[in-house]
Amino acid sequence: MKKRYLAPFVLSALFFAACGGGDKAAQTTSETEHAADNSMVSPNANKPLTKGQELMAQSDCKTCHKEEMKLVGPSFKDIAGKYPNNDENVDKLADKIIKGGSGNWGEVAMLPHTNVSKDDAKEMVKYILSLSAN
Ligand code: HEC
Repeated sequence: MKKRYLAPFVLSALFFAACGGGDKAAQTTSETEHAADNSMVSPNANKPLTKGQELMAQSDCKTCHKEEMKLVGPSFKDIAGKYPNNDENVDKLADKIIKGGSGNWGEVAMLPHTNVSKDDAKEMVKYILSLSAN
């Protein structure tokens, strides 16, 4: 009778021992994966990133924007399709990122990014407008 109840305990003890041993290895892999996560701005993480891409990766853009797909905000490709890549649009959209706004793509507003400098915002816009498929 006693033996039958003991078996699951012995098994689970082995199970935990096995898990404990694997912990360290699992942790180091997830750290490296995290460091290389550029999935929002680049489908190919091995490509060197432009300055604008890096800045966007460090900011919150990816919570609302993706390159190809509409999320909360328009996709970067749609933005690139709407605005020709010239100085005037780069300047205008950089201001838009800093001040926020709504009404161009729908009723949902983009929050202001007052911590982003004008130069950094311009780098981001230059990257976004470079995505134009047309
Ligand atoms: C809270 C969600 C959210 C975040 C975060 C966000 N956006 Fe937006 N973004 C939007 C929405 C919504 C719009 C559409 C606004 C409109 O209709 O005018 C938009 C529009 C834009 C536009 C087009 C503006 C226009 O006038 O057509 C650009 C460029 C842009 N976002 C870049 C960025 C960048 C770069 C970041 C990161 C620094 C960022 N967004 C972060 C939601 C967001």
